[in-house]
Amino acid sequence: MQEMVPERHTLSGSDVSIPLMGVGTWAWGDRSTWGMGGYDSDLTRDSIHEAWDASIDAGVTLFDTAEVYGAGESERIIGALLAGDPRRASSVVVATKFMPSPWKLQVRQALLKSLRASLGRLGLPAVDLYQIHGPISLRSHGALADALAAAHEEGLVKAVGVSNYSVKETRSIASALHKCGMQLATNQIEFSLLRRSPETSGLLAACKELGVVPLAYSPIGQGRLTGKYSADHPPPGKRNFSSHPMEVVDDVVAELRRIGGKYGGKVPSQVALNWVIAKGVVPIPGAKNRHQAEENAGALGWSIDDEDLARLDKVALPGIRSLQNRIWQHG
Ligand SMILES: NC(=O)c1ccc[n+]([C@@H]2O[C@H](COP(=O)([O-])OP(=O)(O)OC[C@H]3O[C@@H](n4cnc5c(N)ncnc54)[C@H](OP(=O)(O)O)[C@@H]3O)[C@@H](O)[C@H]2O)c1
Repeated sequence: MQEMVPERHTLSGSDVSIPLMGVGTWAWGDRSTWGMGGYDSDLTRDSIHEAWDASIDAGVTLFDTAEVYGAGESERIIGALLAGDPRRASSVVVATKFMPSPWKLQVRQALLKSLRASLGRLGLPAVDLYQIHGPISLRSHGALADALAAAHEEGLVKAVGVSNYSVKETRSIASALHKCGMQLATNQIEFSLLRRSPETSGLLAACKELGVVPLAYSPIGQGRLTGKYSADHPPPGKRNFSSHPMEVVDDVVAELRRIGGKYGGKVPSQVALNWVIAKGVVPIPGAKNRHQAEENAGALGWSIDDEDLARLDKVALPGIRSLQNRIWQHG
């Protein structure tokens, strides 16, 4: 049965509300994976500006970034876009992340230092959502919760979240935050038709129980679910998430095409994103230009019926079990 999906999600412990879909900005300023200034000569400041405008025009006002994306360049680009458009900036929700590298043992100081540097690049007094990028700190969940609480106390963050946390880790950090008088708002995870395991493992159910909004990264399989790549024309660059053999992906895309045809010609990426939204998860697809932003926004405002959702559940792949899903690559 389809989830009852609200019109927006409110982030626990805050008055921040987010739309049903956001935009991922890893590619903005990134060279090695996404080719800005490298193999993708079409990815420019201008194309990013157009993606920004088109997303906001479509009501897709949540932008996800991280201190490590393009070594801060993604945050810098968002800061410039916000500064250049103060009227619309007020509708934008910015989420960024702290990389809790194992050597950052003084985690409270490290987090506050990183956060201040992020805010400087973004040109903001506070960030709407601050996320721990992954479960790689050598410090306890109590120490991480204390660091997030200090950031909140100083008025530098409105809501707090994590990323790449398992069921056990999500429960543990939620409980540690609770002891500091805080609530865990989000868990950003890889979730798509190429990685359905967060649903079958009980992670989505645990998030729901805890009042945590799951955000889906790589929701179109790093471009593989758009239909523009295939076994004969694989995606360029590294793209290490969901890197199934394209022969297998081609079968999933064929089903997306078939189902999209029944809903007035929705394209594969729109069907793939609509499936994520139907699971009560907020996808944050990356968009490099106006066309991609507009096309992705076309996943909103309609719903796949239960029968087709069940068909998609059937063709979905559980995901690749690898070290990468524990020590992911700075995505
Ligand atoms: N927390 C984490 O550990 C983590 C990990 C990964 C990502 N993330 C976040 O999640 C966001 C999204 O994930 P992602 O960027 O890895 O993968 P994705 O959203 O599945 O794929 C994005 C890529 O697909 C292509 N694309 C997007 N829309 C398209 C469209 N309508 N038509 C055709 N191609 C389209 C673009 O690349 P091409 O045009 O080059 O094909 C784009 O860069 C990131 O930007 C980041 O904010 C977080």
